[in-house]
Amino acid sequence: MSLDAVLAKIDTDLSDATERLKELLRIPSISTDPAYAQHCQTAADWLVADLARLGVPAQKRETPGHPMVVGHINEDSDGPHLLFYGHYDVQPVDPLDLWDNDPFDPQVEDTAKGQVIRGRGSADDKGQLMTFLEACRAWTHVHGALPCRITFFFEGEEESGSPSLVPFMQENADELRADIALICDTGLFESKTPAIVTMLRGLLGEEFTIQGPDIDLHSGMYGGISINPIRVMGKVIAGLHDDEGRITVPHFYDGVAELSDEMEAQWQGLAFDHAHFLGEVGLSHPAGEQDRTPLEMIWSRPTCEVNGIWGGYTGDGFKTVLPAQAHAKISFRLVGDQDPEAIRANFRAYVQSMLPEDCTVEFKGHSSGAASATETTDPMFEKARQALSTEWGVPAAYVGCGGSIPIAGHFQNILDTTPMLIGFGKDDDALHSPNEKYDVESFHKGIRSWARILDALT
Ligand code: BES
Ligand code: ZN
Repeated sequence: MSLDAVLAKIDTDLSDATERLKELLRIPSISTDPAYAQHCQTAADWLVADLARLGVPAQKRETPGHPMVVGHINEDSDGPHLLFYGHYDVQPVDPLDLWDNDPFDPQVEDTAKGQVIRGRGSADDKGQLMTFLEACRAWTHVHGALPCRITFFFEGEEESGSPSLVPFMQENADELRADIALICDTGLFESKTPAIVTMLRGLLGEEFTIQGPDIDLHSGMYGGISINPIRVMGKVIAGLHDDEGRITVPHFYDGVAELSDEMEAQWQGLAFDHAHFLGEVGLSHPAGEQDRTPLEMIWSRPTCEVNGIWGGYTGDGFKTVLPAQAHAKISFRLVGDQDPEAIRANFRAYVQSMLPEDCTVEFKGHSSGAASATETTDPMFEKARQALSTEWGVPAAYVGCGGSIPIAGHFQNILDTTPMLIGFGKDDDALHSPNEKYDVESFHKGIRSWARILDALT
């Protein structure tokens, strides 16, 4: 009965909740670009103030990077101790000219598929983060208090590899340890089925520069006799995969496990429509390891992707230059027990081995984190799954996720706290891309889902 009152309050409050989300979205809290550091502070302050409005005492906690926000409520109460995590930082917006509107002037738009909230961070992760806060707001309005002990933990560095997270969690382990960590940073399965993510891929980033001649050269004077580092880069990159889509870096597959029979059966039951998934972005053919299913390709197999490559003259017109340098940024998605640092070393050795005479290479390492997987044996999982199924009218599924959320593994390893990953994003949200959006349906039903989950877990 009282859950109905909370759900009704969520329904009537939706437009105010949307306005609050728009306030948060107006803060350009881009974590990877130091020029936006002050805006990360502002976003953290905004969250502290919003938690205070909810009656939750919270603090901005400085780190060597962007601040964390931590709040606690009902610390002495019996019952489960839930922790809620989300990240307030967002990805850069470039290329800006591909946005139809200012990425930090969010708007509610009518589209053929329904209403959306458009703006950088709407789906990743401010809109998702706010689903939990709005559920708590409605709950508090109806009941006068939240149902159990809850720790709120918001990060501002997720999109840049969470460099301050491990020391912060280690230093504050007793404060942050909980019975379960609810993480809202993932999506629905096929944009319609509620899902609990049980596997996340890890990530390893590498940037490198291949140097040939000391200076850029005239390609007429030197072309033919001089090595061209872009040509070398092309060969290095082309050699990373074989014709079957397998990655060639030595020992790359060490630690990659086969799917359990149970998981394989579960995933088969999902009947993933890969043609639709690819069709939505103008593709048709699954281009990964050719002996793997499409779901394996995006959830349980490791990858190597070139994220950027540059060098030589790329401006308007034409310049007959033989460039001195070629650059690339490459990332690996990791699974199972793959060891990021071993792969970094083996990758670097591979690049070295491909260099002809007169070429040298310099590497710059970016963040790394291993994959994580979650057991779903705690009865709280089944309760949450039921609550999600009721809200969405279809049975919620256990799924994998090809993305990386570093904190999930850290909860497990540092705090011995199981992460429960539930989110409401859709495949066409354009995460990290121009015109990112979050469906009003995701926001509304996301809030209602958390209210049902709070009710089920307490
Ligand atoms: N919310 C995403 C993870 C995600 C991606 C969930 C796709 C569902 C579908 C998260 O914020 C993210 O983008 N993580 C980065 C982590 C990296 C920068 C360390 C990623 O996966 O690239
Ligand atoms: Zn995210």
